[in-house]
Amino acid sequence: MLSYQHLYHAGNLADVQKHAALAWVLDYLTQKDKPLTYIETHAGRGVYDLGADEAVKTGEAAAGIALAEALFPPDHPYRQRLDEVRATYGPMAYPGSPLIAALGLRETDTIHLAELHPQEFAHLRAAARDWGANVYQRDGFDLALALTPPTPRRGLMLIDPSYEVKGDYEAIPRHLSAIHRKWNVGVLILWYPILKGAPHLAMLKVLETAFPESLRHEVRFPPVRDGHRMEGSGLFVVNPPYGLEAELSATADRLAQLCKPGRTA
Ligand SMILES: C[S@@+](CC[C@H](N)C(=O)[O-])C[C@H]1O[C@@H](n2cnc3c(N)ncnc32)[C@H](O)[C@@H]1O
Repeated sequence: MLSYQHLYHAGNLADVQKHAALAWVLDYLTQKDKPLTYIETHAGRGVYDLGADEAVKTGEAAAGIALAEALFPPDHPYRQRLDEVRATYGPMAYPGSPLIAALGLRETDTIHLAELHPQEFAHLRAAARDWGANVYQRDGFDLALALTPPTPRRGLMLIDPSYEVKGDYEAIPRHLSAIHRKWNVGVLILWYPILKGAPHLAMLKVLETAFPESLRHEVRFPPVRDGHRMEGSGLFVVNPPYGLEAELSATADRLAQLCKPGRTA
């Protein structure tokens, strides 16, 4: 039974870390005049209304993108995507990763998006009609295995689970290894939360043994409200593109400015 809805969390600092990285990687990959495949295993609804009750209630976007956006230069691909989305969908719109991908890619590229939750999938299917994307209401890891190696072979997979199923941390390294065996040239980006009690650590130990050449990057931030368990956000990247490490460090420096003691909104 799936209960997670990203509308409560869209535009939080974890999204900023993940979406800035995604926009940058797509910008980097599209500099070469060769088509790409983009696969997303856990797509969400694709575009979010930060004025919706759910988003306002948690205040995560107010403590996230509302403060962080100005720290990115106007020509950063993430800022460009934010501007494009507001121009098309209205001033309170925020792009999910599928829309960041759809805007960052070209007509010659191919997009595959999986989302299992019926309500989220219905939103995604409606939104993605304009994006030329293939959408699937099915398990994202099943889809990833079915599609790999994709055509075109060059490309990127974003794996952004909600970690609401207890076994996710154990299963994810197995899924990544199976995908990588079929698609050893694909850039695989896995997002994970840093929660109190650090349940991600055991998963990372297995991943780092399996993928010694990978890139791991984390940002820490204060919990957005009392009792909130998330204190940071991480990205684990297999086949990281050249320059990504420096880009992730630049994002971390930007976010650190928001977390300085005594800073107020
Ligand atoms: C963190 S949200 C995705 C957010 C999105 N990637 C973004 O950044 O805009 C995770 C999504 O995965 C969906 N989900 C959960 N289990 C899934 C599965 N096994 N296969 C596909 N989607 C799943 C949830 O319904 C939720 O919408």
